Amino acid sequence: MKAIVFENSETIARIKEIDKPEPGKGEVLVKLVAGSLNRRDYWIKKGIYQGSNFPCTVGSDGAGIVEKTGTGVDKNLLNKEVIINPALNWGKNPDYHGKDFQILGLPRQGTFAEYVCVPAENLWDKPQNLSFEQASALPLAGLTAYRALFKRGGLTKGENVLITGIGGGVSMFLLKFALSAGAKVFVTSSSEKKIKKAIQSGATEGVLYTEDNWNKNLLTHAKEGFELIIDSAAGKNFGLFPSMLKVGGRIVNFGGTAGNIPEMTAAKLFWKQASVLGTTMGSPEDFANMIHFVQKHKIQPEIDKIFPFEDAELAFKHMESQEQFGKIVLKIA
Ligand SMILES: NC(=O)c1ccc[n+]([C@@H]2O[C@H](COP(=O)([O-])OP(=O)(O)OC[C@H]3O[C@@H](n4cnc5c(N)ncnc54)[C@H](OP(=O)(O)O)[C@@H]3O)[C@@H](O)[C@H]2O)c1
Repeated sequence: MKAIVFENSETIARIKEIDKPEPGKGEVLVKLVAGSLNRRDYWIKKGIYQGSNFPCTVGSDGAGIVEKTGTGVDKNLLNKEVIINPALNWGKNPDYHGKDFQILGLPRQGTFAEYVCVPAENLWDKPQNLSFEQASALPLAGLTAYRALFKRGGLTKGENVLITGIGGGVSMFLLKFALSAGAKVFVTSSSEKKIKKAIQSGATEGVLYTEDNWNKNLLTHAKEGFELIIDSAAGKNFGLFPSMLKVGGRIVNFGGTAGNIPEMTAAKLFWKQASVLGTTMGSPEDFANMIHFVQKHKIQPEIDKIFPFEDAELAFKHMESQEQFGKIVLKIA
């Protein structure tokens, strides 16, 4: 079968022939129609993701059709149109994942291939109102956004939410989910164009995080500050978040695109009775709730661009440029 294989951290994304996988006990073989990129795939390609190992075929997100079932799997799944929950072996506790937790695409072969084998329990019906390309944009980013906002962030109607770096794949789901839940959403970005697009999509206001005093400028719009800040960049701006919270506010982080957090004033945290919470992807229950929420609110994933499979390198270059607004998709079949 054809797959994108990275031989080392210098190789470009190129199609190679590799063995077609066979579904083991409890698994299914999915013929992929589309997959979407996540920042994780890019970090792995660069060899800087924890556990990066070459050669590898990455890809956590995919939508396709069940072609074969392994032993112990219901044959009624054959020919079903599905999406894949890439959070494998979450474990028993819905509050955090167990020691066997894995994300599809490392160390296991990922979705940037003609076929992938996954546990049958990680399959979900493709939402009927979404194309394969749209459906492939949903799993990892939608799951992460849903848990960050609701399970960890405890978002309720009418709250002020700040979403940083609105151009990112997860951020667009955060925006759509928060608006659907009745929140007032503020954003930051490195791009005026993206802020305008976010406002057109329903955000109240936005500022450039690249400018001095961005935090003070934003607070002139969100006067009393934020109940909830959702961030995936960390870096130096993270230290400003506690002073932007209302008393009792929450900060939820799920990534470190801008690096570690150099400093933070402790008094702002404790005096505000603030909570700082980490989150990673989500439990099967979170995934089910996310799909239900998407269907209830008729949410369409924001697709920035669809690349043909053979142009995967261009898709990775596009992610590197940070020009995207929403998800970058690969059309596989
Ligand atoms: N823990 C988890 O479960 C989980 C799940 C998904 C993603 N992540 C992590 O979350 C991050 C985003 O992932 P993604 O897939 O959404 O990536 P992405 O689509 O590549 O998004 C990247 C975006 O990050 C924003 N950004 C970059 N530097 C920033 C800064 N200093 N301050 C604020 N925003 C900044 C940019 O937004 P603008 O273009 O608007 O400037 C950029 O478009 C990555 O670090 C990823 O590894 C973690």
